[in-house]
Amino acid sequence: MEIFVKNPAEMQADVIITGFFEDDKNLNSIQKGLDEKFNGTISKDILEIEGFKGKYLETFSFPTNGIKIVALGLGKKEEFNTNKVREAAAKTIKTVEKLSKNKIAAFNIQNNGSLCCCKIAYNTVLGAIMGQYDFDKYKTKKNEEKINIIEILSEKVEKFTPAVEKAKIAGEAMNFTKDLISEPAEFATPSKISDIAKDIANEGGLEIKVFGKDELKTMNFNAFLAVGQGSVQEPKFIHLKYTPSGEIKKKIAIIGKGITFDSGGLDIKPPASMLTMKTDMSGCACVLGVAKAISKLKPDVEVHILSALCENMPSGSSYKVGDVLIAKNGKTIEVDNTDAEGRLTLADVLAYADELNVDEVIDVATLTGAVIVALGNTITGIMGNNDDFINEIIEDGKEIGETLWQMPILDDMQDNLKSDIADMRNTGSRYAGASVAARFLSNFTNSKKWAHLDIAGTAFLDKPYKELNKGATAAMVRTLIQHITK
Ligand code: BES
Ligand code: MG
Ligand code: ZN
Repeated sequence: MEIFVKNPAEMQADVIITGFFEDDKNLNSIQKGLDEKFNGTISKDILEIEGFKGKYLETFSFPTNGIKIVALGLGKKEEFNTNKVREAAAKTIKTVEKLSKNKIAAFNIQNNGSLCCCKIAYNTVLGAIMGQYDFDKYKTKKNEEKINIIEILSEKVEKFTPAVEKAKIAGEAMNFTKDLISEPAEFATPSKISDIAKDIANEGGLEIKVFGKDELKTMNFNAFLAVGQGSVQEPKFIHLKYTPSGEIKKKIAIIGKGITFDSGGLDIKPPASMLTMKTDMSGCACVLGVAKAISKLKPDVEVHILSALCENMPSGSSYKVGDVLIAKNGKTIEVDNTDAEGRLTLADVLAYADELNVDEVIDVATLTGAVIVALGNTITGIMGNNDDFINEIIEDGKEIGETLWQMPILDDMQDNLKSDIADMRNTGSRYAGASVAARFLSNFTNSKKWAHLDIAGTAFLDKPYKELNKGATAAMVRTLIQHITK
């Protein structure tokens, strides 16, 4: 999809989406221009005769001179915010698909006087990209009605262009992440994802190292290798690095859980729980999407992008319950459940991240079913070892419309992880599962600012939610981009 900021005089769209508040129907300057051009369509036909109310998400389409003017309700002026802009843009782009012949749609969203115009433009574009997304690679019949070009109407083209470009970069990163999550595990293997990471590095001028099994053995990634040893797919560990050209403000490592398929291993999952387990690399897909975005946005932050990729499969060579693994940092782990594999792979990567001397470490992982029980499908659980840092990330999420909620990590949770023969085991009791998993991870990082984002609930939706379609959501791509580039 192409996106431009356009002066209304140069508009080519045959569908124009224009916003109205419920409690203020005064026309903005663009609407006044359109109203004059189309003989009072807005002031007379839509507002006076049809009595368009402007309730939030209400739409009304009025054809005039080969063009369709779509009135979009924005609700009460006082309740208007950027989240509403994004959701409205995502939903209307779907509605207008059928109305447009030339597949060009123009947006003129209102301002209530208190929001920044650039933020409105940003969220309109991001919402439109999100609304248009679907994964149709394997459908022989594609949606032919999609909008190809979006025009953001403005009399000040230059002023809005940077915000629109930024939104396009974020939106494209999200689409990349969603595509990768949606791919079957048979396609998105550790080797294939490593190749994709190499392409991102080559295109974006990032450094990349991909480590295979033999190298990882010498690097003591023993907990990670144990998880992958039951699969015919070779495990891979990827490390991308973005270095700013100027002064470095801070250094960050972002880690994504990269289980390309989680069958549970010998502790095999029941069929219903296994159904979506190709998405267990959503953390990896997230950080790779972020890598793509930062290579274009060029923040003054050094960013390391890390992911340990493998399949968790049952076979004659699988790791077994009772095995004792020596993690990269030397701590020993008794395998209590082979389905608690993500934390084992992350343990070695967290220890590796310590060697990079970064200021912050953030891991993103579809780690526990327990976080879904606690927070549902629309809130990401955040845990860590520094409340100020956690609050900062929660605020970053709020800014771009992703909700994170802190869950506790207490020292005595380590008792839950006691093993008779090793330093710890990889699972605790059934209760407080998300927190106990985070407590386990805390044993493998020395970072002063470490945050763990459990996206097991938010990475994939079985029904649409606000601007998000069903399926992969690219959870935390926006939050991490915001955190790194703000
Ligand atoms: N990948 C799963 C967590 C998951 C569950 C992600 C549902 C997405 C949707 C993880 O590896 C897992 O299997 N966790 C177990 C841990 C348990 C054995 C302690 C779980 O949550 O059931
Ligand atoms: Mg598992
Ligand atoms: Zn898993």
